[in-house]
Amino acid sequence: MTGDARLQGARVVVTAGGTREPIDPVRYLGNRSSGKMGNALAVAAARAGAEVTLITAAEPPRDLDGLHVVRVDTAEQMGAAVRGALPGARVLIMAAAVADYRPKRVSPRKIKKGTGTWVLELEPTTDILTSLRELPERRNVFVVGFAAETTDLLENAQEKVHAKGLDLIVLNDVSRSDIAMGADANEVTVIDRDGIVASVERAPKDAVASEIMRIVASRLR
Ligand code: CTP
Repeated sequence: MTGDARLQGARVVVTAGGTREPIDPVRYLGNRSSGKMGNALAVAAARAGAEVTLITAAEPPRDLDGLHVVRVDTAEQMGAAVRGALPGARVLIMAAAVADYRPKRVSPRKIKKGTGTWVLELEPTTDILTSLRELPERRNVFVVGFAAETTDLLENAQEKVHAKGLDLIVLNDVSRSDIAMGADANEVTVIDRDGIVASVERAPKDAVASEIMRIVASRLR
């Protein structure tokens, strides 16, 4: 079977975008993720014949052929949607930039301006990938994470492969403006437990996504 044939009819779950953690009815904590990489992966998987669920905190792609889109805002909602989509999935790709912290209290009313400083208390969110590790429905799922790094790139990415129990991680140097969050191009290093699997040269995100899907497909048994 060729790599692409292994994706034919397979259920693939992709997350995209940066989650938004509410402060009050008008404000939130967010990040610069545009959702473009996750969208490109979802489209590439659908083109390879997969049945794709795209769980996104950003704008989904215009071409929705073969995509089931679930829109979410917060890390908590994204976690629930991922766990809900997991049974029967063959591949999970966590391209989303999930907030690590959220405001401890969400004000039901708009917080009014004052004259002094404002200290916002944050609490950690649940790490979605780590929360899946012990789930029985995770056992047959090929899990791909993303590592957004600015320092000690390879070392940090490799550590995440182990800590989050991943099959592959896609390393992104987000300190470079030409491939940073929100850019139209990307350049990535794909890593597994043993080290570097492939270096994907700088290219439009849809070309990078096709290459990542090709690598994922080649590793499905
Ligand atoms: N991730 C997740 N749940 C979170 C945070 C991140 O599942 N609460 C996933 C991301 O979708 C990504 C991977 O974990 O696939 C790595 O995310 P990254 O932001 O690079 O790392 P963190 O685990 O957040 O660690 P740090 O911010 O310290 O680098």
